[in-house]
Amino acid sequence: MRNSYGDKFLIHGGNKLFGEVTIQTSKNAVLPILASSIMADTPVTIKNVPDIIDVDNMLRILEKLGAKIAIDRDNITINPLTINNAKVDCELSKTMRSSVFLLGATLAKFKSACITLPGGCNIGNRPIDLHINAFKKLGVEVEYIGEEIHFNAKKYIPRTIKLKIPSVGATENIIEFACLQSGKTTIINPAKEPEIVDLCNFLSSMGAKIYGAGTNKITIYGVDRLKGVQYTPISDRIVAGTIMCAVAICGGDVHIKNAIPIHNQSLIEKLIKMGCQINIKNDIINIRSDSNLKSIGKITTGYYPKFPTDLQSIMLVVSTVSKGNTTIHEKIFSNRFETAKELNLLSANIDVVSNNKVVVHGIDHLNGAVVRAHDLRGGAGLVLAGLVAIGDTIVEDIHYIDRGYAYLEKMLSHLGADIKRIRV
Ligand code: EPZ
Repeated sequence: MRNSYGDKFLIHGGNKLFGEVTIQTSKNAVLPILASSIMADTPVTIKNVPDIIDVDNMLRILEKLGAKIAIDRDNITINPLTINNAKVDCELSKTMRSSVFLLGATLAKFKSACITLPGGCNIGNRPIDLHINAFKKLGVEVEYIGEEIHFNAKKYIPRTIKLKIPSVGATENIIEFACLQSGKTTIINPAKEPEIVDLCNFLSSMGAKIYGAGTNKITIYGVDRLKGVQYTPISDRIVAGTIMCAVAICGGDVHIKNAIPIHNQSLIEKLIKMGCQINIKNDIINIRSDSNLKSIGKITTGYYPKFPTDLQSIMLVVSTVSKGNTTIHEKIFSNRFETAKELNLLSANIDVVSNNKVVVHGIDHLNGAVVRAHDLRGGAGLVLAGLVAIGDTIVEDIHYIDRGYAYLEKMLSHLGADIKRIRV
C-alpha cells in the first residue's frame, strides 16, 4: 500500500518536453473491472494495472470481502472463491468513491450489500440517489441504519431504467447487478464513456450478455455464471490529456504511446485551435508546441463525448498562460474550481464568477510559489503550472495526485521536466 501523505513535488519551471511516454491503463476502467471480478466463479487476472492509490484501496476492500489477491508486477489476479461476506468495509468505503462501484457486484453475488455514503474528492457533493433509485426499481430493499446503507435483493425485477443523468457510476452498478440476474434489463440514457464500454467488454468476455455499450440504450440479458478471464483495460484518456497539455504549455515534441486518440477527440481539437501541431498514427499521438498558445475562448464540460470534466482543471492551467480570455463552465460537478485559488497564488489571473464558471485572463508567465492540491485532477494541474512557472514551485498534498497518476513525476522528468518528489 503506497502512502504518500506528506510528500511534495519540487518543480523548477522552464524546461521544454521531448521524447516519448507510454500511458498507463485507465483508473476509471480498472476500478469497476476490479470490483466486477468478484462476480466470476474462477480467478480473474487484470493486466497492466497502474500503481495508484485508488487501486490499492480497491484491493484492500476486495481482501476485506475475503478475496485472495496475487500481484505479479503490474498483473493482478483476484480469486473470488474465498469471498465470504457482503459488507463492503464501511471504514474503507469512506475513503474512496470507487467503493460505490462494488455495490452492483456484491448485490449480484450475495443479493445483499452494505456501504457508508462514500467519500472521494473535494469536487462537490457526490450523491448516489440515482444508484439507490435504480436498485429499488430492480426490486432491492434499501435501509438506512445510521451512516450505513443496507441493500437486500430479495427478488430481482428485470425492467427498463431511465437515468435522468447519464451517471458513470450508476450505469456501471446497474450493469454489474443485472448481468447475473435472470431476465432482460434495459438502461435508457446510460453513461457512454469509454470506461463503460471497457467494463462491458470485460463482463462480456466473462460470459455476460450486454448490448449497446457506448450508445443511448444498453440491454443486459442475465446469465447464470461468469467465468474468470485475463483482461487488459483501456489506456487512461485523462492521463494522456494531461501529458498533451503539459507539452502544449511547456513547448516541445512528444510521442504519447498506448493512447486511444478518439477518446481525446474534444481536447485534441481544442489544442490544435490553440496552436499545437498534433499528428496521430495508430495508438501514438505526436504533439508539438512552441508554447505560444492562443485562448480557445470558451470551454464547457459535459458528458462523453463532450469535453471531460476530468480535464477541466488541466485546461484551466493551459488557459492561464494562453493569449486572451477563456471562460470555463463546469457543468458536471458543483465545486471543481478549488484549483483556481491556488493558481492565483502562482500569479495567474482567474476570476471565479461562481462554483460553475471562471473567467481566465491569460498572462505571459506564472511565478513559482508553494501551493496545495485539493483534488486529483486539480493537483495534476498545479504540477503543470509549476512546469511553466518562473522559479521553483512546491506542490503539497500530492497524495491526491497519486490516487490516479502512477508516479506523474517520473513520466514528466523522463520528458525533461525538472521535478522531484520530496518525502518527509
Ligand atoms: C466517475 O465518477 C469518475 N470516477 C469521475 O472521475 C468522473 O469525473 C465522473 O465519472 C464523470 O465522468 C470513476 O469512474 C471512479 P457520475 P462518478 O455519477 O461515477 C451526479 C477522476 O478524477 N450524480 O457520472 O461519481 C454527480 O453529482 C474522477 O478520475 C447524482 O446526482 O460520476 C455529478 O454531478 C473524478 N446522483 C454527475 O451526476 C447520483 O446518484 C456525474 O456523476 C450519481 C451522480
